[in-house]
Amino acid sequence: MRSDMESLWVFALASKCRAFTQENVAWSLLIMILAWLAISLVYWAHPGGPAWGKYKFKRGSSSFAKAKPIPGPRGLPVIGSMNLMMSLSHRKIAAAAESCKAKRLMAFSLGDTRVIVTSNPDVAKEILNSSVFADRPVKESAYSLMFNRAIGFAPYGVYWRTLRRIAATHLFCPKQIKGAEAQRLAIASQMVATFAGYKQGFCVREALKRASLNNMMCSVFGREYKLDSLNDEVKELRALVDEGYEILGMLNWTDHLPWLADFDPQKIRFRCSKLAPKVNRFVGRIVAQHKVQSNNQKNLDFVDVLLSLQGSDKLSDSDMIAVLWEMIFRGTDTVAVLIEWILARLVLHCDVQSRVHDELDKVVGRSRAVAESDLGELIYLTAVIKEVLRLHPPGPLLSWARLAITDTTIDGYHVPRGTTAMVNMWAISRDPDVWKNPLEFIPERFLPKEGGVEFSVLGSDLTLAPFGSGRRVCPGKNLGLTTVSFWMASLLHEYAWLPSAQNTVDLSEVLRLSCEMASPLTVTVRPRRRLRLSTNVV
Ligand code: HEM
Repeated sequence: MRSDMESLWVFALASKCRAFTQENVAWSLLIMILAWLAISLVYWAHPGGPAWGKYKFKRGSSSFAKAKPIPGPRGLPVIGSMNLMMSLSHRKIAAAAESCKAKRLMAFSLGDTRVIVTSNPDVAKEILNSSVFADRPVKESAYSLMFNRAIGFAPYGVYWRTLRRIAATHLFCPKQIKGAEAQRLAIASQMVATFAGYKQGFCVREALKRASLNNMMCSVFGREYKLDSLNDEVKELRALVDEGYEILGMLNWTDHLPWLADFDPQKIRFRCSKLAPKVNRFVGRIVAQHKVQSNNQKNLDFVDVLLSLQGSDKLSDSDMIAVLWEMIFRGTDTVAVLIEWILARLVLHCDVQSRVHDELDKVVGRSRAVAESDLGELIYLTAVIKEVLRLHPPGPLLSWARLAITDTTIDGYHVPRGTTAMVNMWAISRDPDVWKNPLEFIPERFLPKEGGVEFSVLGSDLTLAPFGSGRRVCPGKNLGLTTVSFWMASLLHEYAWLPSAQNTVDLSEVLRLSCEMASPLTVTVRPRRRLRLSTNVV
């Protein structure tokens, strides 16, 4: 009570005091605004923009302050180069790096976030293979959707290492991939049968996405669905994946401008809060069903594998849900997106398609369907897939960025702890200094017998590493490549793929979480073998 009286007394006195006139308050506000503007401009004047300037200003006389700055665009005061991350960011970043003469290493700011990006394979190797960049930057939506407990966004440490080991030894080991062969064959046959029913031009995307989702549903949850029946469970999961995909693919301003966080201006937090419980219920229900079912099936799905773990590997139910949800999420669209790009290229380049057909006729013959054991001999088809990965990597910026755990030096520049690092794989794989005639579609460049090179796309050579590289390299790369190669071989063995009369092939891109064709591919097909349209085409 006494203190209330005192404060009233202070206000009463203040109101009499000339220092608190309206005019003085207005002046003070103006001075504060001008000071804030001046500081913002000082931060912004630093190469790379405000986040880099702010860091240098705060570090004062430290070694960073004296180090030569990484070149890069300033963007706008306060927000920096947010525009670079909107729409086709891989193209915008490549253009900015070119104009700043900073292809090896460029700095820019996303609000308060310091970012470096490289469009050079040597510097990319330095970043991706360094233990310093084994972490991922925090993304609010990823945390809200439980991805911080799954492999992709788990902070670097014991938990993440345990998940990677479990994934490598149990989920993506050759035995597990081989175990799903029959399911891939069944789904390929269903796709072939589905396409036989289309007499005119049709859009392939829907069928590819459904096939890919059914495939993951089977590998992860042991659920088998037919391609042509829209089951409620599949519909529900598709909606959950689509919503998660959209949310995670958005540039969330509050990740970079923390003072906006309370407002949730893009409603991302709100949408996550609606989605996360639905995912928990959906995946939790399937885990609970697996717990009560005795498992004497031939193939263990991912839920069985995770439930069978013992000791320090054993995961809690909520961690298991996060890991399984991520697998569905990551495994579905990447595969469908890549197949659509491959088909588009083959429709455009009919000479390449007829060479693939010749190879299939020679290796497989028209009397039977393709088997996975044929894949090793389909050298030209493999080269085609690599060439499509070069020109249309599903993750042109390698999907998710990396985070520096400690201060480090990259390409001779000092990079402080907490900096986000990106690799522009799209720019590297189209760079004329790295690839001859980079914009031309030439699968022969991967055929050693025809003057090309023997090349692995699995991350050892950073001139083309669509699955990333180093500690955080994609753990599903072999599964993804096996699925894409086998389905492509089957679809091409059964059909010649032709442009539809209504639409030409348009290679424009749209970048969501993956880089997809902006105009979905529409085609017509002409059967090459006499088909027996059952679930197993033989
Ligand atoms: C064509 C298919 C695929 C492509 C192009 C692809 C690409 C990528 C890329 C570029 C990364 C980031 C790597 C890095 O930071 O160095 C990644 C990470 C990841 N991918 Fe894939 N991926 C594919 C298929 C799959 C599949 C089928 C799965 C699982 C079912 C999967 C699961 C993951 C996971 C869990 C991570 C996070 C790894 C970590 O942070 O430790 N991916 N993928």
